[in-house]
Amino acid sequence: MGYPVWHVVFGPQLLIAVIAVVHVFISQFAVGGGLFLVLYEGHAARHNDLPLREWLERYTGFFAFLTLCFGATTGVGIWFTISLISPGATETLIHIFLWVWAIEWLFFLVEVVSIIVYLKTWNTISSRSHRAIGWIYFVSAYLSLVAINGILSFQLTPGRWLKSGSLADAYFNPGFVSTTLVRSSIAVVLAGLYALTAVSFSKDRILRREVASYAGRWVWIGAVLLLASGYYAYFSLPGNTRALFTIFPSLHLPLGVFLVADTLLFIFGIVVGLRRYITLNKGFAILMLVAGFCVVGAFEFTREDLRKPYLINGYLYANHIRVSAQKECRDKGLLKSSPFLPDVEITPINQSAVGKAIFNAACSSCHSVRVGLHAIAPKLVGLDEAYLSKFVFNSDLTRYRMPPFPGTAEEAAAVASYLVYLSPPGAPGASGKDIWKRRCAQCHDLYGAFRPVGESFKGLDTGEAEEIIDSLNTLDERMPPWTGTAKQSTALASYLVSGKEGAR
Ligand code: HEC
Ligand code: HEC
Repeated sequence: MGYPVWHVVFGPQLLIAVIAVVHVFISQFAVGGGLFLVLYEGHAARHNDLPLREWLERYTGFFAFLTLCFGATTGVGIWFTISLISPGATETLIHIFLWVWAIEWLFFLVEVVSIIVYLKTWNTISSRSHRAIGWIYFVSAYLSLVAINGILSFQLTPGRWLKSGSLADAYFNPGFVSTTLVRSSIAVVLAGLYALTAVSFSKDRILRREVASYAGRWVWIGAVLLLASGYYAYFSLPGNTRALFTIFPSLHLPLGVFLVADTLLFIFGIVVGLRRYITLNKGFAILMLVAGFCVVGAFEFTREDLRKPYLINGYLYANHIRVSAQKECRDKGLLKSSPFLPDVEITPINQSAVGKAIFNAACSSCHSVRVGLHAIAPKLVGLDEAYLSKFVFNSDLTRYRMPPFPGTAEEAAAVASYLVYLSPPGAPGASGKDIWKRRCAQCHDLYGAFRPVGESFKGLDTGEAEEIIDSLNTLDERMPPWTGTAKQSTALASYLVSGKEGAR
C-alpha cells in the first residue's frame, strides 16, 4: 500500500506476461544455445568439418544479436514494468534477495563480455581457447538462470521462509530444485529449436541435414527431460497448491497445452533427428519453434496462475497488501490505511468517485476497466448494487481467487456503486442456468469440487427451493442477498431442483 498505482489501460498483467514470456523464451535459449555452440564446435573440430564450423560462426552472430539485443533489453523491461506495476513485491524481493541479485548481475556481466569475445575470436585464437571462452559463457549463463530461478520459485513456494525469514530458506525453497530442472530442460529444447530454425534457412542441403539431425536430438531429449522434470515439479508443490488443479478445471488448459506441445516436440525432434534423409524445411522448423513457445508460455502461465491471489504466496496479495496488514486494513478501512487515497467520509455524493479510487488501489492490479485482460465492465451486466456490495466485500470466496477485500463493508459498497456506474446496459439470459451462472456459479459448483450446493436442492419442489433462494443471506451472511426478480427466482429454483449432474 505504500506506493501509488500505475494505470495500464489494457491490464498490467497482460503487459508483464507478454514481456516476461518473450524474455524467458530468449534468455533460456541464451543458456541452452551456449552449450549447443561449444559442444558442436568441439564436434566440428574433431571431425575437421569446415562447413559446419563456418555455419557455427555465422550462427554465433545471430545468437549474440538475439540474446544481447532482445534478451537483455526485455530483461531490463521486466525490471521497469514490475517496479512500476508491483512496487511492493519488487521491494520485498530486493530486500530478501539483494545479494542473490547482485551475484546474478555479475554472472550476467561475465555472460555479456564472454559472448562478445567468443563471437569476435572465431578465427583469431586456437579452437581450444575459443571453446574455453564458450564454456565460460555457458557456465555463467547457466548460473544466472539458477540464481534467478531461486527468486521466481520463491514467489510460488516460499516454504519455511514465511516463519524463519532466512535467505537460505527463501532461496532453497521447496520448488527450487524441480523448477531449476524444468528451466534447464527448456533450455535444452530451445537450443535445438533455434538451431533448427536457423539452419532451415541455409541453402546447403547437406549442412541442413547434418545440423537438423544433431539439433533434433536436443529437442527430443530435452522434451523427455522436460516431461520428467515437469512431473517432479508438479509433485514438489505443497499439497494444498496441487489441490487447486482438482478444484479449478481452468488450470487444466495450460497443463494440457504443455503436455500436447511437449509431446509434439518429442515426435518432431525424433523425426528430424533420427531420419537423416528427411530435409528440414522452414515451415516445419517454425512450427516447432511455435510449439516451443507454447511450452514456455504454458509453464509460466501455470506458475503465475497457481500463485493467485498472491504475489508472494502466503505473504503478499496481488493487490500489494501484506497478509499481515490485511486485517488492520479491513478493520480501519483502506482510505485510512493508504497514503495515496483521500481520507474522506463516504457520502452518497462522493460514493462513486471514492469507489473508483478504491477500485484503482485494490483491484486494478488484476482488472482493467473496459478493455483488456480481466476487463471488469463487461462482467457486470445485470448485477445490482446490493448484490455487488456483498460480492465485493467477500470477493475472496469466489472461484477467481481474488484477494480478500482490504477495506470496510462501507468501502465495498462504494466500489459497488462505481461498478454499477460502469456496468453496460443489457440484461443477462433469463433461463435458470443463465441466472445460476450470473449470480451463484462464481462461488459454487452444483456438483463439482468447489463449494457444491446441488445436494441441498435435491428432492425439493420448486416452491421450497425458491424459499431457500429468497433467504440466501440468512443461510450464510457472507452470501449476497437475493436481489433478482420473482420470475428469475422461479427459473433458478426449477433449474436447481432439476438436479442436472455436472452442470455448473
Ligand atoms: C488476483 C487478481 C484479482 C484481484 C486483485 C481482483 N480480482 Fe476480481 N476477478 C479476478 C479474476 C481472474 C476474475 C474472473 C473473471 C475474469 O477473468 O475477468 C475476477 C472477477 C471479478 C468480478 C466478476 C464476477 C462475475 O460475476 O463474473 C468482479 C465483479 C470482480 N472480479 C471484482 C473485483 C473487485 C471489486 C476487486 C477489488 C476489490 C477485484 N475484483 C480484485 C481477479 C482479481
Ligand atoms: C460471494 C460468494 C457466494 C455467492 C455469489 C453465492 N454463495 Fe451460496 N454460499 C457462499 C458461502 C461462503 C456459503 C457457506 C457455505 C460454505 O462455506 O461452504 C454458501 C452457502 C450456500 C448454501 C448452503 C450450503 C449448503 O450446505 O448447501 C446454499 C444452498 C447456497 N449457498 C446457494 C447459493 C445460490 C443459489 C446462490 C446464487 C443465487 C449463491 N449461493 C451465491 C457463498 C456464495
